[in-house]
Amino acid sequence: ASDMGTDLERVLLSEQQIADRLTEMAGEIDADYAGRDLLLVGVLKGAVMVMADLARRLHLPVEMDWMAVSSYGAGTSSSGVVRILKDLDTDLTGRHVLIVEDIIDSGLTLSWLLSNLRTRGAASVEIATLLRKPEAAKVEVDVRYVGFDIPTEFVVGYGLDYAEKYRNLPFVGTLAPHVYSD
Ligand code: PRP
Ligand code: MN
Ligand code: MG
Repeated sequence: ASDMGTDLERVLLSEQQIADRLTEMAGEIDADYAGRDLLLVGVLKGAVMVMADLARRLHLPVEMDWMAVSSYGAGTSSSGVVRILKDLDTDLTGRHVLIVEDIIDSGLTLSWLLSNLRTRGAASVEIATLLRKPEAAKVEVDVRYVGFDIPTEFVVGYGLDYAEKYRNLPFVGTLAPHVYSD
């Protein structure tokens, strides 16, 4: 059985650090998109917390939509082959789109998503992510807004899961090796 108390190694980003950074990012987004209608696209399921907390800090009028995607292939890292499980309800023609993600790891998911959404006639498509692991990048992704660059460690919490657990933690922490090694 999992026990959040002993499964975690350390807190990487506290609830307060995340909140403060999201306030800064929202300020930049408000300024950059002033006078435009913005569509926020959250990527299920990891982006749920970031979407909720970032969107609440924006003063712009925004719409929100969601996509669910899945990587083909086994293992814990993505293969780059992505399939859409739930598509957008929104027509992107002429829209300013900001994809909201919890983390860019290999970059394969967002690289695919970015080119997919850019074929749909949007006026612009940009990315906001809370976390990025620069040393894990298999493909470079042009990201407009990054909350924190973090080391290549197994992180959970604030939307991020290990085997679907720990998403509800209000902070981002590293997982103790015993959880995923035995
Ligand atoms: C995780 C994370 C990103 C993606 C990043 O999602 O939320 O969407 O992986 O990995 P990449 O940069 O290597 O492609 P996951 O596929 O685990 O689904 P989830 O959001 O439902 O946890
Ligand atoms: Mn995800
Ligand atoms: Mg996941």
